[in-house]
Amino acid sequence: MKTTISKVSEHLNEEVTIGCWLANKRSSGKIAFLQLRDGTGFIQGVVVKAAVDEEVFQLAKSITQESSVYVTGTVVEDTRSPFGYELQVNQLELIHEAVDFPITPKEHGTEFLMDHRHLWLRSKRQHAVMKVRNEIIRASYEFFNNNDFIKIDPPILTGSAAEGTTELFHTQYFDEEAYLSQSGQLYMEAAAMAFGKVFSFGPTFRAEKSKTRRHLIEFWMIEPEMAFVEHDESLEIQEQYVSYLAKAVVDNCQLELDTLGRDVEKLKNITAPFPRITYDEAVKLLQEKGFDDIKWGEDFGSPHETAIAEMYEKPVFITHYPKNIKAFYMKPDPTNEDVVLCADLIAPEGYGEIIGGSQRIDDLTLMQQRYDEHKLSGDAYLWYLELRKYGSVPHAGFGLGLERTVAWFSGVEHVRETIPFPRLLNRLYP
Ligand code: 4AD
Ligand code: MG
Repeated sequence: MKTTISKVSEHLNEEVTIGCWLANKRSSGKIAFLQLRDGTGFIQGVVVKAAVDEEVFQLAKSITQESSVYVTGTVVEDTRSPFGYELQVNQLELIHEAVDFPITPKEHGTEFLMDHRHLWLRSKRQHAVMKVRNEIIRASYEFFNNNDFIKIDPPILTGSAAEGTTELFHTQYFDEEAYLSQSGQLYMEAAAMAFGKVFSFGPTFRAEKSKTRRHLIEFWMIEPEMAFVEHDESLEIQEQYVSYLAKAVVDNCQLELDTLGRDVEKLKNITAPFPRITYDEAVKLLQEKGFDDIKWGEDFGSPHETAIAEMYEKPVFITHYPKNIKAFYMKPDPTNEDVVLCADLIAPEGYGEIIGGSQRIDDLTLMQQRYDEHKLSGDAYLWYLELRKYGSVPHAGFGLGLERTVAWFSGVEHVRETIPFPRLLNRLYP
């Protein structure tokens, strides 16, 4: 019976055949322990000399790391392993012999691993991180579908910039200049006016010269946008969404979190509601903590965000930032026009800003004024202005950075491990 490691529990005490790669092995004169992986999971295969043909045992002893094999064996319970099962091997059929696989079980430097990302992905740790990523994507679709959002796909090639022009990737679009999308938001606003509640999930690109543990050049964002939803209601949806993701990962990625050594109690603590402080309060808290460098009107850097996050057990919303350090489309607070109705969600444990969101300007005259201030009057932005012309409504939305969320939930230090093929400053290979 051909099956996969993920399905062995359905074949207890039966003989199965699984196509595998050899991840690692240990052997003595009488027994060989093969660490096998097939993409769906990892299992130990035990080859007992006395129980198999001599050639099978010789193959088990000599087989090299990452060689591919069909393994036939009996599924038995193994209470010592977190996986709970192992294979008592009866037959081994070599498919392809791997010679000198470069990533051995010993420690390797980061640059070496990054240069071999196409092979590094096979490791147990990378497998666990990608499974967490997959679960967050799956649970995102589930959450938004359950809440009557429909998925809308904004374009990647665009003539407009949502988040300022300094970090755009330029490209030629026949005779026009185009950019790779920094955010689907502007298009999602158009979609919200057509479909009410929408979300997107796609790659975004920022030519940021930042070399930090939180920055990628190409990253994936989930961007919901909601008509007839105001700032406070958007925060409620955000905290419900993030709590939903945390619960899904805790419930469905137990083995992976165990592999990663993640403190699951920290994830169980991610439950709505989340604390909220204003930018004004954040500045005061930072000054009290001895950050003399921060003055009202300046944006926070990573050390500031981390210091704020350390004051709370849960993720924290920082709301009402000064208008001048935020994007052109954010709606001013009616009670204080110097600040906007926005929030950044800061994760605990130093993982930084996970979500950026805001209520959008819905008034045509005010938006026109912003266009003038930000010199957006070109044709590329005409359509966006028109959204304020025909049945404009209060609306809000946000963007969740997938890789930062994966890093946080997985407990991995750097976002480079949270995307299959990271694009970083000065890295386009592999
Ligand atoms: O705060 P940002 O720039 O917000 C927007 O783009 C809005 N238009 C979203 C919206 O309202 N629809 O980015 C949103 C999130 C950040 O909070 C962060 O998690 C992630 O995207 N992010 C990055 N992740 C990895 N590498 C980078 N260079 C990132 N820049 C932003
Ligand atoms: Mg932001």
